[in-house]
Amino acid sequence: MRRVVCEGERVCLRDVTEADIAALHGVYGHPVATQHAPFAPRSLQEVTGLVEEAVRAAAAEPRLLYVLAVLDAGRRDVVGVARLRIEAELPHSAEIGFGLHPEQWGRGIGTDLVRLLLSFGFKQLGLHRIWGARSPANLPAQLAMLTAGMVEEGRIRHHLPTPNGWRDSIVHSALEDEWVER
Ligand SMILES: CC(C)(COP(=O)(O)OP(=O)(O)OC[C@H]1O[C@@H](n2cnc3c(N)ncnc32)[C@H](O)[C@@H]1OP(=O)(O)O)[C@@H](O)C(=O)NCCC(=O)NCCS
Repeated sequence: MRRVVCEGERVCLRDVTEADIAALHGVYGHPVATQHAPFAPRSLQEVTGLVEEAVRAAAAEPRLLYVLAVLDAGRRDVVGVARLRIEAELPHSAEIGFGLHPEQWGRGIGTDLVRLLLSFGFKQLGLHRIWGARSPANLPAQLAMLTAGMVEEGRIRHHLPTPNGWRDSIVHSALEDEWVER
């Protein structure tokens, strides 16, 4: 089983554990942090289920799902959550998702987190393509991904069902052979 430890200058990544449920609920259950997500804020019970699934997925061979706690590099407390999912039939490619507690926003940490996820995916997992899909209205996610080197590929129309109807997504990606670690 591959355990994740990935150290950045301001944020770090490690596998989630059941001890992280309350901290993850601070993101997945927060109405502002989930305003661009395709789901309503999650209950504590739903987050517990997500973490249990993540722990099971961490033991799978091959491992296709990484649900990672985002730690402040200095304080070591959990400030957010990141997800990387490898496509079983396209194992060179993975989708990322990420979110921080709203009190952490606006200090450049989100951009650092995207950079760290790219570094993890390309250097530790040997991926070739990493992509992320955002709501067209999600400007901070757009800027974080662009600044971290993920180019915009285009729009997937009616990509996701949401409680308010279909949602388009804007897809960003980075390729290993054009990625420059920053
Ligand atoms: C997306 C997210 C991780 C960004 O985190 P962050 O720490 O605020 O990001 P940064 O501080 O690195 O800012 C990224 C860019 O967005 C800009 N920005 C941040 N908040 C903004 C806001 N409310 N309005 C406009 N621009 C904003 C920053 O100025 C920065 O732009 P720059 O690179 O031109 O300076 C954070 O907003 C978040 O957790 N959102 C909820 C979950 C989510 O939407 N995840 C993305 C799913 S695809």
